[in-house]
Amino acid sequence: MAIEFSERIGRIPVYPAAGGYAREDLVKLASNESPFAPLPAVREAVEAALGSLNRYPDPTSSALRARLANRYGVPALRIAIGNGSCDILLAAGEALLEPGAELVYAWPSFSVYPHLSAASGARAITVPLDERECHDLPAMLREITVATRLAIVCNPNNPTSTAVAFAEIEGFLDEVPPHVCVILDEAYCDFNVLDDPDATLELLPRHPNLVLLRTFSKVHGLCGLRVGFALCGSEELPRALDQVRQPFFCNALAQAAATEALAHEDAVIDRVTRTIAERISMDERLQALGLQVAESQANFCWVKLGQEREEQQILAGLAERGVLVRGGTALGSEVPAMRVTYGLPQENERFLQALAELL
Ligand SMILES: Cc1ncc(COP(=O)(O)O)c(C=O)c1O
Repeated sequence: MAIEFSERIGRIPVYPAAGGYAREDLVKLASNESPFAPLPAVREAVEAALGSLNRYPDPTSSALRARLANRYGVPALRIAIGNGSCDILLAAGEALLEPGAELVYAWPSFSVYPHLSAASGARAITVPLDERECHDLPAMLREITVATRLAIVCNPNNPTSTAVAFAEIEGFLDEVPPHVCVILDEAYCDFNVLDDPDATLELLPRHPNLVLLRTFSKVHGLCGLRVGFALCGSEELPRALDQVRQPFFCNALAQAAATEALAHEDAVIDRVTRTIAERISMDERLQALGLQVAESQANFCWVKLGQEREEQQILAGLAERGVLVRGGTALGSEVPAMRVTYGLPQENERFLQALAELL
């Protein structure tokens, strides 16, 4: 007799993880990671925490939350910490959704969102992106009903790299009814030059239903440790998120690293500037190869390969040349496409050379 699984296991999509963990010599442009190693001071903070690993971590991440409260001007009780921001997303699904409830998000967008409805039995309503591959917020608004519990806006959007301007987000929130929790997933906001990355903070006091979801995985380069956070418009959501999760969900090394990372904003700004310089040059060179590139506000680009090209062939050709990128169709594209993280200059060069050979 085979093991019998719950009915929802058949519904929950398997996360399309990137490969390439076994080899060292690869150019890894597939997971929107930072190409920069952790800062020396962050490494030292992690090393200093190693001696206490016989103890459970601080269950309330109090030092990290205090520093976040200070940095963002949001009361500590309105801040949730997570084992990566994915952990917060999944916990929000568990806390808010159930059969009969509805969840609204754009598509293509972050591949974890479909998991929330599948796991809870709620109905997912996906709204196509507009012709610029941006969120269509008016269309999303039209889908919100009394049954909606959660709306997610990914800004800048993964995988299409595009962003909507602050004024549009502000207008959207003014129209969303207060019973609907809105998660603004800002994993890539530091790379967005349309607005100040912290512009949305001013919306929190006006919208108790708003959650700004952030992560240490991208600009802080700490995805190997898994730590993210949510700045919330009310205290109820962080409390509910903690109710549905195991205790001690954020490990001690992650807490130490993230707390230290917040003291080094200048280094973060320097890394953003370097990434944006790569963005400008790489997008130009991709366009010079005759490819269509979305207007990126993130640390990655979204490239249409053209109907006549075989996406799989190009991905395999790049992999043979030691370069890993993500195929677009696995991320929701209806046409051949790829998502490429901006790496270090020499990594981008290797990618562009390999791609030019293949085209
Ligand atoms: C839009 C978006 N949100 C959230 C995450 C989750 O990041 P983490 O769980 O590493 O904080 C990612 C990761 O790629 C992402 O692209």
